[in-house]
Amino acid sequence: MRELQTRPISKGLGNFLSYEKNESGIDIKTSFGNLAVSFFTEKVAQVWAYHGTKQEDFSYAVVGKPEKVNFSLADSSESLLLATSAMKVSVHKSPVRVVMTDLNDQVINEDETGLGVQWINDQVNCYKKLQEGERFLGLGEKNGPLDKRGRGYINWNTDAYAYSPDGDPLYCTVPFYIGIHHQKIYGIYFDNSYRSLFNFGASNDRFASFSADSGEMKYYFIAGDSVADVIKSYTYITGRMPLPPLWSLGYQQCRYSYYPDKEVLRVAENFKERDLPGDAIVLDIHYMDAYKIFTWDKKNFPDPKGLIEKLKSLGFHVVLMCDPGIKIEEGYEPYESGKKEEVFIKYPDGVNYSGQVWPGWCHFPDFTKPAAREWWADHFKEYVALGAEGFWNDMNEIATWGNMLPDLMEFDFEGRKTSTREGRNLYGMMMARSTYEGTKKLMNKRPFNLTRSGYAGIQRYAAVWTGDNVAYDAHMLAGVRLVNSMGLSGMAFTGYDIGGFVGNTDEKLFARWMCIGAFSPFFRGHTMINTRDSEPWSFGEKVEEISRNHMKLRYRLMPYLYSLFFDAAKTGMPINRSLAIYHPFDSKIYDHQYHNQYFFGPSILIAPVESNKDLVKVYLPEGNWYDLLTDHPHQGNQDIVADCPIDHLPVYVKGSAIIPMKEKAGQNTSDFGDVLELHLYRGDVYNDFTLYEDDGISFEHEKGAFAKRKIMYTPEKNELTILDKEGTYVSPYKKVNIYFHGFSNLNQATINGQLQKIEWKEYRFVQPISNYDPVNTVPEGLKINSLPSISTNYGTEKINISW
Ligand code: GLC
Repeated sequence: MRELQTRPISKGLGNFLSYEKNESGIDIKTSFGNLAVSFFTEKVAQVWAYHGTKQEDFSYAVVGKPEKVNFSLADSSESLLLATSAMKVSVHKSPVRVVMTDLNDQVINEDETGLGVQWINDQVNCYKKLQEGERFLGLGEKNGPLDKRGRGYINWNTDAYAYSPDGDPLYCTVPFYIGIHHQKIYGIYFDNSYRSLFNFGASNDRFASFSADSGEMKYYFIAGDSVADVIKSYTYITGRMPLPPLWSLGYQQCRYSYYPDKEVLRVAENFKERDLPGDAIVLDIHYMDAYKIFTWDKKNFPDPKGLIEKLKSLGFHVVLMCDPGIKIEEGYEPYESGKKEEVFIKYPDGVNYSGQVWPGWCHFPDFTKPAAREWWADHFKEYVALGAEGFWNDMNEIATWGNMLPDLMEFDFEGRKTSTREGRNLYGMMMARSTYEGTKKLMNKRPFNLTRSGYAGIQRYAAVWTGDNVAYDAHMLAGVRLVNSMGLSGMAFTGYDIGGFVGNTDEKLFARWMCIGAFSPFFRGHTMINTRDSEPWSFGEKVEEISRNHMKLRYRLMPYLYSLFFDAAKTGMPINRSLAIYHPFDSKIYDHQYHNQYFFGPSILIAPVESNKDLVKVYLPEGNWYDLLTDHPHQGNQDIVADCPIDHLPVYVKGSAIIPMKEKAGQNTSDFGDVLELHLYRGDVYNDFTLYEDDGISFEHEKGAFAKRKIMYTPEKNELTILDKEGTYVSPYKKVNIYFHGFSNLNQATINGQLQKIEWKEYRFVQPISNYDPVNTVPEGLKINSLPSISTNYGTEKINISW
């Protein structure tokens, strides 16, 4: 008979016994374990509960260095109080509980009094009191509403083929969330890669919690003045995106798969023939010989170098599919060398793990082993020599048929050794890291790196797309929310398969997806094997025209977009910004009618909508707004009903916005033309925008070869100022045209004191869609009837415009 259980089922930290102060915080001994609180920055505290001896502070996610923080410490009979210039942490003594407050002693976040930290066998848990009205955002690639209150999520990277728009878990793990309540904003990053569980008040009315199957209860508490500030601290901890090549921001055409080589070329030629901008062609698994990585199918791709060169001459870069499974096949070099160099994941008895994926039975490199990463990185020599510039890390959850990588597999973990339980969620990120580091070194320019699976910090190595989505409206909108959520979680360069991967897209859905996708950081059309064609021209003339309009609009916005990428690289701010970034306390933005809306950069509000709707309710937050396509003004703080026929989306520009654009879309991203446009939108508040340019491909910008210009709008002075250029890069623009939106009574304007001629003209961001009936009348389309503008040389010196 099983003995009666006499010990407690779960164990907490117990009561305070003693403490020691150190340089960055304190170490507290408790009746059951220890609690260490150390300041990482003024606004970030690492909280670490453990029993036994403190483990080494090892993490693949954390790359930021702790700063020297001045803090005060006060000891009373009830608690220990630590304070920096930005936050306070008080540790209650009996039992030991942590409370974070602001400088006015208002609670930001606190342990649930009865629960706090608990161990249930190996499982580590931290229970936080659910605050009244508290909202929860983030966790990276997680489905569901913007505000995740009342939901629970699992982190266990999964090959989630054709997931439902509410499905969980997906491909990535980002154990970081943002909490919002009572004018307070904070973030918590749980630094534990075991399978973890986040509960935001699901099935209970007491707590929000985070737990992991094993490992450390170690988390970073981030106090912030704003959501942007929390993202900045989180990306200080886990790193930021390096600037990707400019071409990777252009349109990328993909399908599973284009072959033979002639078909690939035809796809590329179509872009030019049809006057559609494009920058990349993606080769999915059929370029390989029987799906074996680092090989080419000799029949369908006899001359990869020639093909890549031809594509280059057409203005296209090539992205190659890279799968981690190495086919078990004698004589196949990666198999032979991988076996010899012991790079594969092993069972505890030393046998290499075998699982089935595209090529059949495979071994899998252990990317947590430095030598395996090097081995993998070296194998890119040939791809790079052939001229490939983009690399697509797929199936890296790890995906194997059966989806059950055994728990007992051994991972090297930089020599520390661990099992699947701790290693699995890191696999995708470590593969992406190895590919990125390898190709960067070999190419000596910026590679484009894309991944399906990732972990906190993945932004340092790769863009992430949302995997195998499905061709229907609800999935399209779920993709928008996933991208918004990833943006809140440090991942700025993200996107979804436009048109939907699984299933057949119809005309309207494709058109709508294109309009939305044009305002997404990663812009790629993709579809599965044996589905109908899914290129911008595959759905008839009307859809092609709608696609052309939106592709061109995105290309014209490239100066704005690339500057946003620069901002993301510097501060972690995402490209697609959930409304929660600017309006966290406006309850309307969380309403499910509006929670898909987002800002594309600071000034453009996108209202994504299903393909079968012609009218939609849009919420405009506080401020004044303009319809992008017509300049029609709207007051904020209200919902409006907007037209959304299939040829366009409701898109609004914020008052005081400054939007730099190219005059012409060009054939690809390196086609700049020499005219820059600056669109200024009348508003009441000061605003500025930093326009950033560089050569878009090399690392010379790190040595000062960039062109940076701050553009400032001061409404009370009626002034727009373009500051002197910083940096040594020579901008391609010779002329700048300044457009004044919402200034219907503009009479005169001066540039550096000189009176200017104001031109009034009709202006279009998109072209009218042809009427294909036999009478063939040309419709009016959407336009701005009369827009004032002035024009001057762009130069490098300060330009002062006033009116
Ligand atoms: C996976 C990818 C998909 C790709 C396919 C074939 O399902 O998610 O994008 O096309 O594999 O490589």
